[in-house]
Amino acid sequence: MLHLPFRAGRLRMAHRIVLAPLTRCRAHPDTLAPTPATAAYYRERASDSGLLVTEAVQVSPEGTPVWSIYDRVRVNGGHVTGLWTDEQEGRWADVVAGVHDRGGLISCQLLHAGRIAQPGIADHPLVAASGLPVPTVSSSAIALPADGAAGDYGWDDTAAVPRALDTDEVARVVDDYRAAAARAVRAGFDAVEVHGAHGYLVDQFLCDGVNRRTDRYGGSAANRCRFLFEVVDALVDEVGEGRVGVRLSPQPAPGDGPHDGHAFFGATCTDPEATYGHAVEGLAGRGLAYLLLTEPRVAGLAGGPLDEMPPLRNGRYRDLFDGALLGAGGFTPPSASAAIEAGAYDAVAFGRWFLANPDLPERIRTGRPLNVYERDTFYGLGPDGSADPGYLDYPTWDAIAKGVASPYRLIDQDRIGVRLPDRTDGGGRT
Ligand SMILES: Cc1cc2nc3c(=O)[nH]c(=O)nc-3n(C[C@H](O)[C@H](O)[C@H](O)COP(=O)(O)O)c2cc1C
Repeated sequence: MLHLPFRAGRLRMAHRIVLAPLTRCRAHPDTLAPTPATAAYYRERASDSGLLVTEAVQVSPEGTPVWSIYDRVRVNGGHVTGLWTDEQEGRWADVVAGVHDRGGLISCQLLHAGRIAQPGIADHPLVAASGLPVPTVSSSAIALPADGAAGDYGWDDTAAVPRALDTDEVARVVDDYRAAAARAVRAGFDAVEVHGAHGYLVDQFLCDGVNRRTDRYGGSAANRCRFLFEVVDALVDEVGEGRVGVRLSPQPAPGDGPHDGHAFFGATCTDPEATYGHAVEGLAGRGLAYLLLTEPRVAGLAGGPLDEMPPLRNGRYRDLFDGALLGAGGFTPPSASAAIEAGAYDAVAFGRWFLANPDLPERIRTGRPLNVYERDTFYGLGPDGSADPGYLDYPTWDAIAKGVASPYRLIDQDRIGVRLPDRTDGGGRT
C-alpha cells in the first residue's frame, strides 16, 4: 500500500512515505539558517516524487524558541532555523535545490512557538539586530507550566509569562506567517505547512486551557479556530490553492483510553471533539494540499510508542475533511500500510525511522532491516560543534551492502514493536 501513488492538492506523490517534520537544532548558530549539512540531510532523504516536510521553521524572531530545555542542546549549543532574513531564504533555497535535484518534493513547516519561545532569544545578535518584537506572546498571559503538567518535554525552567496579543495585533502575526510563506515560495518550496499542533501558538489559540480571551479569538470553538483559519487563508492566498498543508494534534476525548488528558506543552482543552472537529471541518474546502494529524497515542517522545500499538484515534476526522489526510505518530512500516489499507489515512509521515534511515522509502519497498535511531543525538550539535553524530552518519542500505561501517544497530521491519535486547541489560526498547 505504501508504494501506491497519490495526490495531495497540487502535489503528486509516487508513494505514501512522508518525512515528518523533525526539529534537529542544527542551524547555523549566527544566522539561524540551514547549513550545507542541512542541505545534505534533506537531499539524502529525497526520493522521486516523495514528500519531505522540513523541521519547524520560525516565521519571526518573536516566535523562536531557545531549546535550552534539552540537555544536549544546552550543552552543545544548537538553534532552530528561521525564515525571515535574506540569508535564511537563500540557504533554504539550497536545501530545496538539493531535494528537487533528486526529483523530490518539499513542504516548509512554518512555526510561531508562542509562549514556548522564551526571552533568551532576545540576546541572540541576529534577533537583537532585527529590531523585531520579542518575546513572547500567546493568546493569553498564561505561562507554560513548569512542572510535569507541561507535557512531555521535561520543561525545567521557569517559563516567562507571555504577553496576550492585542486583538488588532493578531493581523500582524498573520502577516509574519505570510511573509515567511512568500520567502518559502521564493526559495522554491513546493508547499508550506502551518504548524498548528503540539501546543505552539496556533494550538494556544485553539485550546481553552490557554486561550482565555473574551474577544473574537476566544470563547467558543469557532472563535478559538479563527486565528488558524486566518493564517491558512493568508497562506493559500500567498502560495496558491493546493500548496498549503496544516498539522494539528487533536487531543483524545475525555475517557478515550490511556492518553486521555494528554496535552502537548500544557495546552489543555476541555472540549477537544468540538474544537478539533470545528477546526477540521473549517479546513475542508479551504484549498489545502493536505492535513497532517498527530495520533494522540504519541504521548511524548521520551517514551517509546513501540512497546504498545494502541488503535488509531483520529478516525472521526476522516469524515470531516475532504482532502488528503496524513497521519503521524508511532507508525511502523506494517502498521502504516495497514492504516492506509483500512482507509484511515492516505499517507503516513514517519519521524524517527526516517531520521535514522535516509533511504526509508526504498528500505520499506525492499523489506531491508532498518537502522535503529539514537535518541541522544536527535537535537543539537556534536561536542566539536559539528552536525554529526546523528545527522549525516546514518547509512543507506547501499552503503551497508558495500560494507561501510555503521555505528547503528539494525532491526528487521517486522520486529519493530517487539522489545529489543538492549546493548547492556537485555531489556531496552527501540
Ligand atoms: C527529534 C524530533 C523532532 C521533532 N520536531 C517536530 C517539528 O519540528 N514539528 C512537528 O510538527 N513535529 C515534530 N516532531 C514530531 C514528529 O513529526 C512525529 O510526529 C513524531 O516523531 C512521531 O512520529 P514517529 O513515531 O514516526 O517518530 C518531532 C519529533 C522528533 C523525534
